[in-house]
Amino acid sequence: MESKTEEASMINVSSLTCIDLDNSNLHQLAVLLKQACLDSGFFYVINHGMSEELKEEAFEQSKKFFALPLEEKMKVLRNEKHRGYAPIHESRLDPKNQVQGDYKEGFTIGMEGPKDCPDLDKSFYSSNIWPNPDVLPGWRETMEKYHQEALRVCKSIARVIALALDLDVDYFDGPEMLGNSIANMILFHYEGILSDPSKGIYACGAHSDYGMMTLLATDDVMGLQICKDKDAKPQKWEYVPSIKKAFIVNIGDLLERWSNGLFKSILHRVLGNGQNRYSIPLFVLPSHKCLIDCLPTCQSKINLPKYPAIKCSSYIFQRYKEVHEHQKQT
Ligand code: OGA
Ligand code: NI
Repeated sequence: MESKTEEASMINVSSLTCIDLDNSNLHQLAVLLKQACLDSGFFYVINHGMSEELKEEAFEQSKKFFALPLEEKMKVLRNEKHRGYAPIHESRLDPKNQVQGDYKEGFTIGMEGPKDCPDLDKSFYSSNIWPNPDVLPGWRETMEKYHQEALRVCKSIARVIALALDLDVDYFDGPEMLGNSIANMILFHYEGILSDPSKGIYACGAHSDYGMMTLLATDDVMGLQICKDKDAKPQKWEYVPSIKKAFIVNIGDLLERWSNGLFKSILHRVLGNGQNRYSIPLFVLPSHKCLIDCLPTCQSKINLPKYPAIKCSSYIFQRYKEVHEHQKQT
């Protein structure tokens, strides 16, 4: 187990940079964001424009869904396109250190593409599945609105990211970029269990996110932890508290690769403290057609591209495959 390589159970709380999206001085924001991304790839955003009412309603509706009898939830069991309900223990994000799957159940809502798009596209932009509206009235409408608003917030963050990487402010706006973004939102409910790293019991195992960035809303139950240096012995884990009216944002592996390793995508996990916990991450990627090739501003004669170019769709398939092969071995 990880206990031997992990610092004793001191409570460390991380203090992350806060990006105020209402600040019209984007260059000032870019300097702050860049520092945060060189350091940990985690930061908060405030004044993002999503109303608190919508956020609260999404959490209320999410709680109502998870409170349904299992039989009702199984009616919207995850399909082959990964949309819908994933029961508890279905995922195990850190198989080397976990004795059980993650203590969480989820519900995935993705992008819906045009009905006539070719087969390949459909796996990224297929139709969502929804709980029965007689059972949960207004549920679909709330979640669709949340998805749309959360993606809008990510697009404005991407403009600051572009400046922080010395690119044009609209670099990520085009149709092959976030104009046709692949963005999966997952509602999570963590069971009220107590995690114990020394026994390999985690609410969610250590991992880094594979996408471009993640926009995370959590309730106020502490649980999320980050590790800035995975190779440190012992590893040092810091809690990331939730801040009212703020989102937590983190850079994913795809942007780390795109930026030639400049922006960090770091390990994080969730420890259960015995209370039920709810969260809603939105995992954002550019269009499946986007070529992820080292950004022009992140390479030079003495800093050559470290990774070959790869199409976003191939990158995603590769990552899915790795996760599944990993899980088969355990
Ligand atoms: C994730 C994740 C954190 C949380 O789903 O990738 O890191 O607080 N979630 O739910
Ligand atoms: Ni994550």
